[in-house]
Amino acid sequence: MDSKIYSISAREILDSRGNPTIETTVMLTSGYRGTASVPSGASVGKYEAVELRDKDENRYNGMGVLAAVANVNAVIAPKLVGSDALDQKKADKIMIALDGTANKSKLGANSIVSVSLAVAAAAASHTKLPLYRYLNGLAGEAALTKIERIPTPLFNIINGGKHGAGNLNFQEFMVIPASNKRFSEALRIGVELYHHLKQILSYRNAIHSVGDEGGFAPNLFTNLEALELLMEAVKATKYHFGTDVFFGMDIAASQFKTPGGYRIKDKPQLLSGRQFIDYLKELNSKYRLLLLEDPLEEDDWVGWATLTREVGKEILVVGDDLLVTNRERLMRAIAEKACNAILLKPNQIGSLTEFLDVVALARKNDIKCVVSHRSGETNDTFIADLAVAVAAEYVKFGAPARGERVAKYNRLLQIEKELSAQ
Ligand code: PGA
Ligand code: ZN
Repeated sequence: MDSKIYSISAREILDSRGNPTIETTVMLTSGYRGTASVPSGASVGKYEAVELRDKDENRYNGMGVLAAVANVNAVIAPKLVGSDALDQKKADKIMIALDGTANKSKLGANSIVSVSLAVAAAAASHTKLPLYRYLNGLAGEAALTKIERIPTPLFNIINGGKHGAGNLNFQEFMVIPASNKRFSEALRIGVELYHHLKQILSYRNAIHSVGDEGGFAPNLFTNLEALELLMEAVKATKYHFGTDVFFGMDIAASQFKTPGGYRIKDKPQLLSGRQFIDYLKELNSKYRLLLLEDPLEEDDWVGWATLTREVGKEILVVGDDLLVTNRERLMRAIAEKACNAILLKPNQIGSLTEFLDVVALARKNDIKCVVSHRSGETNDTFIADLAVAVAAEYVKFGAPARGERVAKYNRLLQIEKELSAQ
């Protein structure tokens, strides 16, 4: 059997914020290989699987990942060498058992997920299938639908919160092309809006820089003003708001919630959960939001259920920090009707098998799927193939700028071309 794993080797590389991360290569007896690297979040959910960092202040300000690299090379590799790369479930099961913790804190979710994805990439090369086809086969019931279309992109073109050097509370202000557009057309819409927005911000002297995800990070008076600027950008193009393009926001509410309530630039007083929901609804009545991610903090299950009951028919209420790509948390959200969409990030849960399991559960319960990058990324494009493979409705890969974001969009362009040639 030449699809056996012959070797596994990890090394320390850098991510888009200049922080160390892991890159792992899996080589098979057949000579085929696969490589995967791991992204990293800045607004990390409280319930995510644990990313192992060295915490050695003398190296990379404590951000090194040498221990995680050693866990791959010295702990995981000896146990996986010789097993079949085509048996993804078994490989992941071995690693999960080896770690033995609920949140992968022993070996590190960064170690495990790098191997998990590299095993799949190597198996795909071995079978000579494009990665998205191989992953679609693995996904089984998760991919309920055939691969037919490229997911609709969510372009985060204004970066606030922990991702922006500016002063906005909300983390992401997104433009979303209509789902009936071809991906290449949607991408063009995103790019044209991005460039128009830049002109508008320069004219107002508001541009500060671009943020971690490639969107602009302006200084503005309110969060509402960011939506006003998006609207100005739409009006400067030939596209129509409400038919060609829509807006969405990742509020990332846990990042600025204080024990006393939500403090935002738009209001002088602290807002209770109820008042904050009402403010989001006010924004929705002005801007017909298509999507609201993490509108409330990650432990406020009652608030989430209230919001979803009140606006869930018209807005995608997306759980990121709420769900952290975790099966148990998604089950609770389904039972409590806390949201109607899920953000999916492989490194939040730490293995491909568990990721696909969560997608399957979401699909069965009519929860819409958004496959997402992290704010700290590498040029790895695995998640582009993964999103197509599970027929996600949306992808969230940042602004159409910065190499690590554009790499994923360019990969989707390539896949679109391949699919249309068939
Ligand atoms: P993160 O943010 O990668 O910094 O966690 C992304 C998001 O909140 O969607
Ligand atoms: Zn988020």
